[in-house]
Amino acid sequence: MHKVILDTDPGVDDAMALLFLHRHPAIDLVGITTVFGNASIETTTRNALFLKRSWNTAAPVARGIGETLNPERTHVGWPTGIHGEDGLGNIDVPAEIDLPLDPRPAHRFIIETVRANPGEVTLVAVGRMTNLARALRDDPEIAALVKAVVIMGGAFDVPGNITPAAEANIHGDPEAADVVMTAPWPVTVIGLDVTMKTVMTRAALADIAARGGAPARLLADISQFYVTFYEQHVDDGMVVHDSCACAYVVAPELFTTRGGAIRVLCGGIADGQTIQKPDGRIFPPNAWDGLPSQKACTDIDAEAVLKLICETL
Ligand code: BDR
Ligand code: CA
Repeated sequence: MHKVILDTDPGVDDAMALLFLHRHPAIDLVGITTVFGNASIETTTRNALFLKRSWNTAAPVARGIGETLNPERTHVGWPTGIHGEDGLGNIDVPAEIDLPLDPRPAHRFIIETVRANPGEVTLVAVGRMTNLARALRDDPEIAALVKAVVIMGGAFDVPGNITPAAEANIHGDPEAADVVMTAPWPVTVIGLDVTMKTVMTRAALADIAARGGAPARLLADISQFYVTFYEQHVDDGMVVHDSCACAYVVAPELFTTRGGAIRVLCGGIADGQTIQKPDGRIFPPNAWDGLPSQKACTDIDAEAVLKLICETL
């Protein structure tokens, strides 16, 4: 059984990732922590509570602090054209959800849950890396206590999606991402290199809705706005970025990875770009030296991952 904390900014594909973790029999979802990104922290937290209530998810929700790690960074606007004004495809989410939040801020929730379960917790981060970086900054020892960190973010050998150089989750808080990638814990980065190959068709979404009961029907409703956006950019359907990171936890054999230290550019025209120094390549002394080797995904068995996601949902 994999104990997982999902750090998320729901977000349409985040909603799918959450339902995947809730339903997969090998996952024990022990917490949901929220971060700003697809919408403001108020909205992503409200959405997490809405999904928890709709799907009867036991895991507590802890709210993140709605600021980038570096307070001097200027705010990057929310992509309302992708996830909708409400972050969940404009389905009329109630303004208030009558469920309690965990009293701790997200990064404290992460620290205390990891400390209570040494060596057991996998952190799956599918939004900005802000909460993970804050947790590391407050308590660097947790790096040795976490089982694994799986990130949806970055673009290594392909263009970004928010600028030619950067993917949205990394670009939204590059300083935080650099802290997370360079920490001495085992990180796997599932970036656009593989998620853009993982496209769920409308037919597959309809099949999930037909077979997966009320939670799956809600997910299909939430997804309509996002599918329409993605149909303008990819062939036929929606890119399931965040569910790819969740699939990696239970089926890493469906992914090809490359080892090497990873850094994130902070500033300049390539702000938020992820760059890996491949293991074994020799360079003059540089800013990647002495850092832990992390894994960047370079390929995916997209058909098998999509099948796993559909069957789980
Ligand atoms: C990432 O950005 C968000 O829009 C998605 O939820 C995903 O986590 C893809 O770049
Ligand atoms: Ca996300």
